[in-house]
This record gives sequence, C-alpha cells and structure tokens, in this order.
Amino acid sequence: MPITILAIESSCDDTAAAIIRDGHVLSNCVASQEAHRQYGGVVPEVASRAHQVHIIPVVDQAIKKAGVSKEELSAVAFTRGPGLIGSLIVGVSFAKALGLSLQIPLIEVHHLVAHVLAHFAEPPYPTFPFLCLTVSGGHTQIVLVRDYLDLEVIGKTQDDAAGEAFDKTGKLLGLDYPAGPEIDRLAAQGVPRFSFPEPQIPGLDFSFSGLKTSILYFLKRELANNPEFISENLADICASVQDRIVSILLHKLTLAVTLTGIKQVALAGGVSANSALRKGLQELGNQQGWQTFIPPFQYCTDNAGMIGVTGYYKYLAGEFTTQDIEPVARWDM
Ligand code: KG4
Ligand code: ZN
Repeated sequence: MPITILAIESSCDDTAAAIIRDGHVLSNCVASQEAHRQYGGVVPEVASRAHQVHIIPVVDQAIKKAGVSKEELSAVAFTRGPGLIGSLIVGVSFAKALGLSLQIPLIEVHHLVAHVLAHFAEPPYPTFPFLCLTVSGGHTQIVLVRDYLDLEVIGKTQDDAAGEAFDKTGKLLGLDYPAGPEIDRLAAQGVPRFSFPEPQIPGLDFSFSGLKTSILYFLKRELANNPEFISENLADICASVQDRIVSILLHKLTLAVTLTGIKQVALAGGVSANSALRKGLQELGNQQGWQTFIPPFQYCTDNAGMIGVTGYYKYLAGEFTTQDIEPVARWDM
C-alpha cells in the first residue's frame, strides 16, 4: 500500500494543500491572499478569515489534481506552528476534523523544518549532513541538517528577518507589500553605488534592524536635499540594499562552512527566490568548491508540498500526534 498524505499549511497568509505519495508531490495547491497588500503587511484577523474561506476549496483542488480519493489517504499532516495563531487554528482544526472523520492519523509539522525538507520534494537531493540557510518573511536561520528529523539551528537573527529587511525597505521606498520581489526586479536595473554598513554580530547570528535604521536616515538625509531622490534613484537604492542583505547572508554562510567543515549548502524560504541571492550562492559555491542546492520557486515560498514531504518522513518514523493537539504561535526548532 502506498503512503498517501494530505498536507495543510496555513501559518501566515497563504492557504495551501498538497498530496504526497511515497514522498513524491502529486499536487501542490495554494490560495494566496491579496487583501493584505492595501495594508502594507499581513493583517492577522483578515488572514484567518480568508483561510476559513479558502481551506475547503484548496483541499478539494489538491485531492482532485492528484487524482486520489479521500479513502486512499494514510494520514493528514499539518503545520502546527510557528506562525499567526488565528491562521494556524484554521488549518489545525480542519486537519483534526478530517483525521477524525476518515479515522486516519495526524502528523504535526514544524513550519521551519518543512522549509528545509522542501529540498526532498524534487531531485537533486542533498545528502546528510548539509547546511541550510532558511530566509523568509518571519525567519532567518542557518540549520545543520544531520538527518530528515535531526536538525539543529546554529545561527539565527536577533531581530528582523531577511524578508522583513526587504519588506520594511520597500515600505520606506513606497513599494507595495511584500516588497521583496519588486526590489529584486528593480535592483536588476540599478547599480549598487550606495553603501550601507554590515552589522558586526559575532558568530553565526544575524541582525537586520541596524540596516533598516541606516536606510531610514540615509533616505531622510538625501530627501532633505532633493525631494525627488527616491524616484530618481529607485533602482540604484534597491540594488544597494539588496547587495548588502545578500552579502550579510553569504558572509555568515561562509563562516558556517568554515566552522562545520560541511560543504553542501542549501537555500530555503521565500527570500531564496531572490535572484541576487541565488546567483551569489552559486558563484560562491563554484569559487569555494561547495555543492549548492536551490529549490524550485514553488518550494521556496510557503507551500503544503514541503509540509507533506516532512509528514512523510515523520510517518516513516512513526511520529504521530493526537486529537488534543493545539497550534503554537512560537515554537523553537
Ligand atoms: O517563506 P515565505 O513565503 O513566507 C514566510 O514564511 O515568511 O517568505 C515571504 C518573504 C517576504 O518577506 C517576501 O518579501 C520575500 O519572502 N521574498 C523575496 C523575494 N520573493 C519573496 N525577497 C527578495 N527577493 C525576492 N525575489
Ligand atoms: Zn515560510
């Protein structure tokens, strides 16, 4: 009998469902929420209401697209956290209800473990041990991955996440939320001729809040001289900020390789869609003799495929959970 898992992800603003059979993704569906754009960020209350609307159609779509029937499901895997509690409640409650009605086991999944295990959704697969830089709107960490379910965070941000650095910069520049993709696009037309300081944080930890402050003061200073400064220099500002964010990430990754001696390096999370980061890692890898892994775009941003892949390895390990499980907004890996 094949192991067929329905996976649900609802930790932030995307409602996602996927079907995974024997570790292979058969369908990977997502309903994105556009409503947050006008507010310049994700509004938790709006997000949970939208999850409520989207969850049944998305699960239905995932099942139909995969060509399976509900009766073939072996388990339901779901994101337990970390994330927005109101959003998580929708996915967790749905998973529990479905598990109960179909009499199949539940598997709780840590969202950030899933971002790392997204690398096993499609070949080429990294081999153990490897390092993974997870960069998203909410998290920035370097993970030492010894096995599917043996992961250790060896560095993390002390304040903002890398995605937040992109998004908050975008806000200062008057760009729509989330600004990461737009900064990426504009940066390609610009030259990184403005210099922003690199934070001096010891070890493998990150900090991005100082960068945000220095961008704010830089813009204030320049706008005082020229009110059109942003519109006249937008592409160059974007290129400069992106250049610094990427260099902060790659410098810490280089230190992690030096400290661990591990030369297999992977990228995960929404910010791994950034073209300068992808190119930068590839070039650095070629230069340093690392083997690098960058997942296809649909497995970088929040998706249920990665939840299902993680659920599959937990299924093999016999790691199931019970009906009294509750979502958690904060959860250390
Ligand atoms: O992993 P993700 O989809 O959701 C979270 O779990 O946070 O990541 C979303 C983040 C946002 O901050 C967004 O601006 C950023 O990923 N992002 C990018 C790019 N595409 C998405 N940042 C820079 N360049 C991109 N191309
Ligand atoms: Zn995420």
